[in-house]
Amino acid sequence: MPFILLNAKNYPTGIGKSLLNTLSSLVKVQKQSGQKLSIAINALDIFVACEQFGSELDIFAQHCDGVDFGAFTGNIVPQYLKEMGVKGVILNHSEKRFSSETLLYAAIAKAKSAGLLVVCCSESVLEGGKIACNTTADYIAIEPPELIGGKISVSKARPEIIAESVQAIGAGRVLVGAGIGNAEDINIVMKHGGSGVLLSSSVMKAENIENALYTLLPF
Ligand code: G3P
Repeated sequence: MPFILLNAKNYPTGIGKSLLNTLSSLVKVQKQSGQKLSIAINALDIFVACEQFGSELDIFAQHCDGVDFGAFTGNIVPQYLKEMGVKGVILNHSEKRFSSETLLYAAIAKAKSAGLLVVCCSESVLEGGKIACNTTADYIAIEPPELIGGKISVSKARPEIIAESVQAIGAGRVLVGAGIGNAEDINIVMKHGGSGVLLSSSVMKAENIENALYTLLPF
């Protein structure tokens, strides 16, 4: 079964009260389909979301820093995310990249030591392979930036990148994202050895989020 991680980003349907409706839709579709659906949400919504949905959904953060509790103004502490009930964290997303490898690797190490599942994004197979070799990130998500938010999925535009990523990163650790919008896109990823997908706009910008989620099933 593919790992499906929805990135709410800061879309209007993914924050505040609207997010709670979106989370209810995920719970409903997850229950009816038997497919686990995880979601990465804005840090400001994590406490309420985990309180209300943490027992039914795997909730992820969209970023964290390689710090502990203490004098780290503005940072997001991995241990605090874990204590709130967060399952994992996306790191180094194209829209929230680390300014250095050192800071990224420190954040991965700290998130792992806090017990969080780490999905580290990369913009190329080369970068993804380096991260895979140098860190213990659970998954490396390959997302060609030019395809993010677009109508043509990475599965259709660049299917070769999936097998290349599995070759460079290793089986069981590759997620793919950008433009993913339906079951066929996910099928292509799984057929080429991927373990799942990251997606956002096809669901978060849909007229009907529940229908958009069903469009991702079955594989
Ligand atoms: O994190 C996944 C996201 O970057 C993909 O965005 O809108 O192309 O599904 P989208």
